[in-house]
Amino acid sequence: MRTSRIARRTAAIKFSSIGPFGPFLWNKMEHCVVEESRRVAQLLDMCNSSGLRPWTLRGKTLLPVVQGGMGVGVSAGGLAGSVARQGGLGTISSVDLRRLHPDLMAQTAHLDKEPDARDTIESANLVALDREIRRARTLSTGQGVIAVNVMKALSQYAGYVRQSLVSGADALVVGAGLPLDLPELARDFPNTALIPILSDARGVQLLVRKWEKRGRLPDAVVIEHPRLAGGHLGASNVGDLADPRFDFERVIPAVLEFFKTAGIEGKIPLIAAGGISCQADIARLQALGAAAVQLGTAFAVTQECDAALAFKQVLAQATPQDIVEFVSVSGLPARAVRTPWLNKYLRIEPKLKAAAHTKQKCNMSFDCLAHCGLRDGDASIGQFCIDQQLGHAMDGDVQKGLFFRGAGALPFGEQIRSVAELMEFLIAAKVPADLHAQAQKVAA
Ligand SMILES: Cc1cc2nc3c(=O)[nH]c(=O)nc-3n(C[C@H](O)[C@H](O)[C@H](O)COP(=O)(O)O)c2cc1C
Ligand code: SF4
Repeated sequence: MRTSRIARRTAAIKFSSIGPFGPFLWNKMEHCVVEESRRVAQLLDMCNSSGLRPWTLRGKTLLPVVQGGMGVGVSAGGLAGSVARQGGLGTISSVDLRRLHPDLMAQTAHLDKEPDARDTIESANLVALDREIRRARTLSTGQGVIAVNVMKALSQYAGYVRQSLVSGADALVVGAGLPLDLPELARDFPNTALIPILSDARGVQLLVRKWEKRGRLPDAVVIEHPRLAGGHLGASNVGDLADPRFDFERVIPAVLEFFKTAGIEGKIPLIAAGGISCQADIARLQALGAAAVQLGTAFAVTQECDAALAFKQVLAQATPQDIVEFVSVSGLPARAVRTPWLNKYLRIEPKLKAAAHTKQKCNMSFDCLAHCGLRDGDASIGQFCIDQQLGHAMDGDVQKGLFFRGAGALPFGEQIRSVAELMEFLIAAKVPADLHAQAQKVAA
């Protein structure tokens, strides 16, 4: 990690010394880095003063706020870089990022039955991932941490992991399946942090035991609550989502107790995810033993989120009655807003299941999932193309999109605000001045 930072800095020096504007650009960059590190120091001070604890990942001190990976194209380099710039951990979701790059879409969107369609699309996605990691790195001005989220359920899982490592991600965050093989895949990159996402103490125990045999411990573990989080959920079926065994109050102490008996106490920070919306939530979870918290939906509705404005508005304007759980085409339960497409899908799901059959080819020609209910004709799970529906949502198509969302309330209600404002609110309960004035007016 250190070597690649030095290499990038050297490249920046070389670049800035070319041409008459070289020294000017270099001074501007230096000024920007100084400003941003001052801002991060200020946020860390605010964090300490408000009784929250910063946490450390691979020797880097961070705000205790993690932005969770959100596909397709919801958390790319723009969002992840903006979060890292504030001194947090920002996560790029690796899946189908070519959608954010018109040149890569021009090369691949028309592909259908060509024998090399899958390889061409996969290569375009790896190019897009590399670009997004670089974009995040530039935006971060060297602050915070840039992670990449890869779902184990993807057929390109190993390819995305390798590309993230080669492109210099600081951390890999893997969920939607047990990433038992991650230590092997990352063997040549010992400086990249490895962070699995799990939802109960048994899963953590199993994974840590298996990884220990491979000579590696997780650098942190995300504990995601299936009753609260957005997107795919870590339970075996919808009926299990509210099982008390997933409650943070149970899972966090049980995992910490396991770490103690396993002789690894204090070595693996826990990150609690799902339904977190204010400083008091973070304080409560840190009191339970979590080092940091991860938020998804609240970051998806920030100005810097990489999806269309209409996507953010759907999430921000949803009421608790609009949010629904169902079984995804990956076989995992999922949580989303009941928008027109999802409403219709849920109505006709029994008919689609009755007609399920193995397809000659994948709907999008690149087999995003290793096991797909639609392509593989598996009537026990979802019957839609998740890549297509999530792509519509990212583009802001309210009629056709699938809009993943967590179950909790949002910090700023229906407002789309900046990452900086969200960070200050979470860390120090600081309400943006205009919102504060509005609230006072209403109260008067
Ligand atoms: C729109 C959306 C897309 C998501 N996509 C992914 C994903 O691709 N991979 C993943 O591990 N988690 C995904 N998540 C889960 C988030 O990373 C995060 O853990 C979760 O949303 C936290 O709950 P919250 O939304 O209540 O804050 C997604 C969540 C949302 C809202
Ligand atoms: S049909 Fe759609 S969801 Fe299924 S593997 Fe293909 S792209 Fe993915």
